[in-house]
Amino acid sequence: MPAVDPAQRLQVLREAIRSHDHAYYALDAPRIADAEYDALFRELLAIEDAHPEWVSPDSPSQRVGTAPSARFSEVRHSVPMRSLNNCFSEEELREFDRRVREGLGRGEVRYTAEPKLDGLAVSLRYEAGMLVQGATRGDGSSGEDVTANLRTLRSIPLRLRGSPPDVLEVRGEVFLPHAGFAELNAQQHARGEKPYVNPRNAAAGALRQLDPAVTARRPLQFYAYALGAHEGWVLPSTQMALLEALRDFGLPVSDLVRSVDGVPACLAYYADLLARRAQLPFDIDGVVYKLDDLAGREELGYVARAPRWAIAHKFPAEEATTTLLDVEFQIGRTGAVTPVARLEPVFVGGATVSNATLHNMDEVLRKDLHIGDSVIVRRAGDVIPEVKAVVADRRPADARPVMLPADCPVCGSPVERLEGEAVARCSGGLTCRAQLHAGLLHAVSRRALDIEGLGDKLLTQLIEEGHVRDPADLFALSAETLAGLDRMGEKSAANVAAALTRARSTTLPRFLFSLGIRDVGEATADTLARHFGSLEALIAACEADAPTDTPDRKDRERLPLLRAVDDVGIEVARSLVHWFADPRHRALLARLQAAGLQWPAIAVRPMEGPLQGRKLVVTGTLPQPRDAIIARIIEAGGQVAGSVSSKTDYVVAGEAAGSKLDKAHALGVPVLDWAAFEQLLQDGAP
Ligand code: IVH
Repeated sequence: MPAVDPAQRLQVLREAIRSHDHAYYALDAPRIADAEYDALFRELLAIEDAHPEWVSPDSPSQRVGTAPSARFSEVRHSVPMRSLNNCFSEEELREFDRRVREGLGRGEVRYTAEPKLDGLAVSLRYEAGMLVQGATRGDGSSGEDVTANLRTLRSIPLRLRGSPPDVLEVRGEVFLPHAGFAELNAQQHARGEKPYVNPRNAAAGALRQLDPAVTARRPLQFYAYALGAHEGWVLPSTQMALLEALRDFGLPVSDLVRSVDGVPACLAYYADLLARRAQLPFDIDGVVYKLDDLAGREELGYVARAPRWAIAHKFPAEEATTTLLDVEFQIGRTGAVTPVARLEPVFVGGATVSNATLHNMDEVLRKDLHIGDSVIVRRAGDVIPEVKAVVADRRPADARPVMLPADCPVCGSPVERLEGEAVARCSGGLTCRAQLHAGLLHAVSRRALDIEGLGDKLLTQLIEEGHVRDPADLFALSAETLAGLDRMGEKSAANVAAALTRARSTTLPRFLFSLGIRDVGEATADTLARHFGSLEALIAACEADAPTDTPDRKDRERLPLLRAVDDVGIEVARSLVHWFADPRHRALLARLQAAGLQWPAIAVRPMEGPLQGRKLVVTGTLPQPRDAIIARIIEAGGQVAGSVSSKTDYVVAGEAAGSKLDKAHALGVPVLDWAAFEQLLQDGAP
């Protein structure tokens, strides 16, 4: 084999590494495995070690290596780095657009719409295609020279591709994606150091590190979005073409950028990005609209420090600081005592927030919440508002710690906290009005007994006036009793009575789900019903599995009969045994059946058919009701499970299928759409 010339090999390696960096960081499409990349890199380092005279500043090895500087020197921006004016409403956006159109004397204007990246603006200077300087924005006229740190970002090319101009200053944003932020904070935690409050601060900290080796360990990203000085270049005529040119030079540009014509298209872009905000891998705090036509920009010019031709349309802030006024305790359906923060009302995430969940007492202690504290409240998208952290140095002298009440604030029964459980529970069961109310709401809900017309307010009235003390009482309500309630006409009373009559004929899965047993959701209720076929058989299994004090207790604790059911683990099995062992619950079951609740028995032995022995999971919105689909699967001899595992044969997925579909893909379980499912039922093969 002919010996490889190391100088030639070095060039090949540098070119290969640059190209893989570009594919990975700019195109987001890695072409080789990390280990292969590392091998190329090590080979490059070995050659450069042997021939230090060959090391050049644009070698991929030179991203880290410059000695730490004591402080950053100043860089004057030859073209100032401006900021953007903000707008917060459609009205303000229309104002902006009107000014642009009037300034240009045009009817409709094309903009580029871009994400407003929440990081730090930097300017990169390339001379003859080589990165010679990188600077922070600073005050806009001069910033800090952070070249050594910026060189460590793999998404920033050290050398431009193609035929770059003599001088090119590229402006863009350096930011830390969520994954990198989480990883960094995990490291901070492991080292016993304070976590960073948000990715932006973490990115700022990383960029201003005196030792570039530290910056290199933070997975910072860069997207280009504007131009500074340039020499020897015929400028493209639009922002879109400019971004395309930057892309061709090997610079990363966000693929969320779009061309939009006029305000309606701007608003549609805004709404779309706002909806996708939570799923993006990095923070954005709005969108930016820029006049696409660069010549038009010259005409409009600047006012103060911002261009007249661009505007940032900000998203509602997701975090705000407010005061924790009090902590109250809410009692849920299963008695769970949930601390809820009462807050000084604050506008955050597009709504006024005055309550936020605190999850459980462990969470309260972990965050060290005191009543009177200044707290950071977060409301992201449609997610329930939460208290993220305490602003520790603003704690008033009279702040009080939060105490878990010893007795239920609603019924006075003792609050119990089982060992190893984060959740404390009211021990009152259905004698607690709060548990009764939540339990009734659950029992009447659409996917349980489906009793139309029995809403929150009506149930409150029925409980307060003593008409209903458990779900069975609902079925004893007469049309007259109902008509006698506040704001109930005879017609609505008759409707509720009719709904109650209809609800007496139900199905076993619905009935089991309606009981509100801990850990028994809709899917588990289904599986239990199909497995045991009748309530009596389920009760018998619970009794047989119930732990006793006999010598074989250990075996009994394994709950073999219940755990023979698909998807029933030890937690669910324990919940079932516990629930059915309670005499109050057994009395309730008897009363419900005496009130006329009934359901058809389910054939337990697997039927013969095209699906015999196959396990299916049904998820998402499909053309037929879930009950009906499950019935068809069972009829065809198949089994239905609530969650996807390696034992699942098929996942039938409709619209808006979520984590189950993801899991199916991850495990390589075949996924069927409706047509393929119909086919499977017919032929036994999709
Ligand atoms: S253009 C003359 N485009 O927003 C206009 N800025 O408030 C120069 N930013 O300092 C900026 N995403 O840090 C532009 N797509 C984007 C941006 C963006 C984020 C930041 C940037 C700038 C600040 C202006």
